Amino acid sequence: MKKDLISILDLSKEYIESLFEIARAFKKDPFSKSTALKSKSIALVFEKPSNRTRVSFEVGMVDLGGHAIYLGPDELKLGVRESVKDVGKVLSRYLDGIVARTFSHKDVVELARFSSIPVINGLSDLLHPCQGLSDLFTIKEKFGEEKVKIAFVGDGNNVLNSLLSGCSVLGKHICVATPKGHEPDKGVLKKADLIAKKSNAMIELTNDPVKCVKSADVVYTDVWISMGQESVRSKKITAFKKFQVNKKLLSHANKGAIVMHCLPAHRGEEITDEVLDGKNSVVYDQAENRLHVQKAILLKLLSKKT
Ligand code: CP
Ligand code: NVA
Repeated sequence: MKKDLISILDLSKEYIESLFEIARAFKKDPFSKSTALKSKSIALVFEKPSNRTRVSFEVGMVDLGGHAIYLGPDELKLGVRESVKDVGKVLSRYLDGIVARTFSHKDVVELARFSSIPVINGLSDLLHPCQGLSDLFTIKEKFGEEKVKIAFVGDGNNVLNSLLSGCSVLGKHICVATPKGHEPDKGVLKKADLIAKKSNAMIELTNDPVKCVKSADVVYTDVWISMGQESVRSKKITAFKKFQVNKKLLSHANKGAIVMHCLPAHRGEEITDEVLDGKNSVVYDQAENRLHVQKAILLKLLSKKT
C-alpha cells in the first residue's frame, strides 16, 4: 500500500473505488468512525490560501477523533526558514500525517521522500489529487455506472491534470478544451495516455470549446488565474476569452448536463453567475464531497485497519 497521496496516477482503480465506498459511508453516517484516528495528529503545511481543503481536512480529523494543526505560509516558510527535508524529518517525529499545499510540485514530492509519515498533496502547481478524487466521486454519485462524457473547458493546470489522471485510471471519457499553450502537463498526459490504453479511457484534446462541450454530460471549469499567477493576469484573460462557461456554451451540452467547478470561482471570468448559480450547477455538492472523500483518504492512509 502507498504511504503517500501525491498523484492519482499512482493509484489503482480498485484503490479509488474503495476510497469512494468509504466516502459514501461517511456521507450517510458522518460519525460512524469517531474514534478511528483517536490520538492522531496531522499538520496542514500550506504555502497558499485555502477554504475547502483546509476546512475539510480539519473537520475530517475531528470527525475521526483526531486533531489537525494548521501551519500557514508565515509559520514554516518551507525551504526558506528551514529545508523541506528538515521540515519532513522533524514533523515525522511529532505527527501521524501531513497535508501539504505547495507552489512547487517538487517540494511536496521531497516532503514525502523525507517524511516517515503519510504526506497528502493538498494542491501543488502541478496537481490537485484530493480535488480530482472528490470530483470523480461526485460524478459517480450523479450518474452511477452510466457512461459519461466529461468536458473540461479552461486552463490545463493542476485541477485538470488530476481530473485527467483520475479519468485515465477509471476508464472515463474526457475532452479537454484549452487555448493553445495552456494544454495539460505533457508528463501527466503521457502517463495518463499509457494508463488509458489499458483502462479504455478516452482522452481528447482540442482548442475548440464548442466541439468539446457537444454531447457532454459534465462541463467543468477552473479559474484562469491560479494562485501565484496574478502577474500574468491580463495576458491570460485575453488568451481565454473564448473559453468562458456561459449559457451559450452550455447549450451545446446534453440536456441535464451538470456544471462543475472546484471553486474558488472568479465569477464573470471563467464562468458566469447565471451558470454557476443555475439549475445544472452541482458546485456546492462538489464542495461538500471534499469532506467525505478527505475523510476516506485520512482513514485509508492513517489508520492501520483499512
Ligand atoms: N477547491 C479547493 O481546493 O479550494 P481551496 O483552495 O479553497 O482549498
Ligand atoms: N487552479 C487553482 C485551483 C484552486 C483550487 C489554483 O491553483 O489556484
